[in-house]
Amino acid sequence: MVPSRSLNGFGVGVREQLEAELLTGDWPIDWLEVTPEHWIDCGPRRRRVLDALGERWPLVPHSLSLSIGGPDPVSTRLIGEMARFCTRFEPTFWSDHLSYSQVDGVQANELLPLPYSEEAIERVATRAGFVRQRIDTRLVLENVTYYAEMPGSAKMPASAAAQAGAEATFLSAVLEASDCDLLLDVNNVYVNAVNFGRDPIAFLDQVPMSRVQMIHIAGHREREGLLIDTHEGPVPGPVWELYRHAIRRAGRVVPTLLEWDVEVPSLERVIREVEHARAHAAVALESR
Ligand SMILES: [Fe+2]
Repeated sequence: MVPSRSLNGFGVGVREQLEAELLTGDWPIDWLEVTPEHWIDCGPRRRRVLDALGERWPLVPHSLSLSIGGPDPVSTRLIGEMARFCTRFEPTFWSDHLSYSQVDGVQANELLPLPYSEEAIERVATRAGFVRQRIDTRLVLENVTYYAEMPGSAKMPASAAAQAGAEATFLSAVLEASDCDLLLDVNNVYVNAVNFGRDPIAFLDQVPMSRVQMIHIAGHREREGLLIDTHEGPVPGPVWELYRHAIRRAGRVVPTLLEWDVEVPSLERVIREVEHARAHAAVALESR
């Protein structure tokens, strides 16, 4: 395992709409997160853009299709591409999602949640071990949103607080068994908590903060009484509140990434939101 270089500060997710501005301005961001699947099989022009971004900032790959908890074999193609990316850009770590997205060769365009079961814990641990043998860069898993619980979960306790505990217990057990670290998406924590009537603070209080390598912040939208994790708009107040709580618990400025995927504004507006994150993190640490 390559020893981790440290990643610090605040980053932005690369979206095609932002690339030209990223490459022409002097922007106060510390690193960029990129989706490797968007660059696989790209032509030389796109490859030059990626190289230029990588010359200006550290790049952290955040893939979508590992399907770490899924039944299909891990994609050797993705593993090969990720290994090449990690050799080329030497990221501190790479991340994907604690979920699955492929069954019988069919790739869902969704990150499906895993059942809270011993079998799921063992499956993730085994597959993470397979990945680790092939990619010498630490794997970090992100907590996802979900809109239904998967069949096969251990029986959920009755109270909302205990249910938040059950999910956090599963998450901690997976990280421990797989020796993966966590990408803590506080917007996802908030969306799940509201949709299932749970306490997001109770969830955060059980997250093993020593394993958190990165925090994601984002916006969401309400549709027909449900919060949907759309990554749109500025970060809402309750998500900032959870972010401050996470930073207070961590006792450090955890590398933080703003996700803005829908109606992406100018880079200047995106970076204003990143500056808000810097301010919230500073306030959180002052008030510990
Ligand atoms: Fe996220």
